[in-house]
Amino acid sequence: MHAYDLLVVGSANADLVIGVERRPAPGETVLGSDLAVHPGGKGANQAVAAARLGARTALLARVGDDAHGRLLLESQRAAGVDTAGVLVGGAPTGVALITVDPSGDNSIVVSPGANARLLPADVRAAGSLLAAARVVSVQLEIPLETVAEVVRGMAPGARLVLNPSPPAPLPAEVLAACDPLVVNEHEALTILGEQPPGASPEDWARSLLALGPRSVVVTLGAAGALVMDSRTDSGVRVPSPRVDAVDTTGAGDAFTAALAWRLSLGEELPPAAALAVRVGAAAVTTRGAQDSYPTAAEL
Ligand code: RIB
Repeated sequence: MHAYDLLVVGSANADLVIGVERRPAPGETVLGSDLAVHPGGKGANQAVAAARLGARTALLARVGDDAHGRLLLESQRAAGVDTAGVLVGGAPTGVALITVDPSGDNSIVVSPGANARLLPADVRAAGSLLAAARVVSVQLEIPLETVAEVVRGMAPGARLVLNPSPPAPLPAEVLAACDPLVVNEHEALTILGEQPPGASPEDWARSLLALGPRSVVVTLGAAGALVMDSRTDSGVRVPSPRVDAVDTTGAGDAFTAALAWRLSLGEELPPAAALAVRVGAAAVTTRGAQDSYPTAAEL
């Protein structure tokens, strides 16, 4: 019996958000809105999104012993996430500087802070958390060697969901464990390098599968998502509901969390992605990352 549907291993950031009419060009200064401070970080966002949907969720992360760290712990606890694995201290809490334009698009710069101090030894010390999770979800705002240690420490039969964000070259052992690798267009093209003109998301997914993952999910924004499984080699498109985007920050995290949760319940990839696109769509309709995540009832 697993104690957790989902263990998220990843970053926790304070999101410092400013709305702007347009994002500045190099060398340019623009004036923006009042500053808003939200709990964020790809790992913390995923954990909150999954717990809101009803997943039994734990987070393995590191925050600083400071006000931002307390903000993050509070938001996790309010969502019902098990925070026994959230380590405190070693560096200031990670910070993300975010500008959001009127179309809801954002630009983000992350100062990793304590996230960079989540080390392989911390993963080894959290062996009981890893052993208790059906699905483990990771992203790349923590050190790559920590991600690799997660892969090595996973319980037999547990499933790895990886969103390589921000994208970086991945070791073969990590790629081979992904089921699925979840990428957006930017992440897919960064990992694959230049693609032939006219290459489709199906082509990207096939090329990504050739790198070793057992399955691949390509998120396509308003167009939904594409899933492809190496065991069937067929691609399935999953459309998204139409919504008015206010702020896309954290929508990908909500998508991945929902997908990971449904996979932990034994659902196949296409129906899991169909629910995940609805969660991702709901997440763009409200400002902030975690504040915008729906409960199962709201969905
Ligand atoms: O994916 C959105 C997240 O990216 C933000 O919450 C920010 O903290 C950055 O990590």
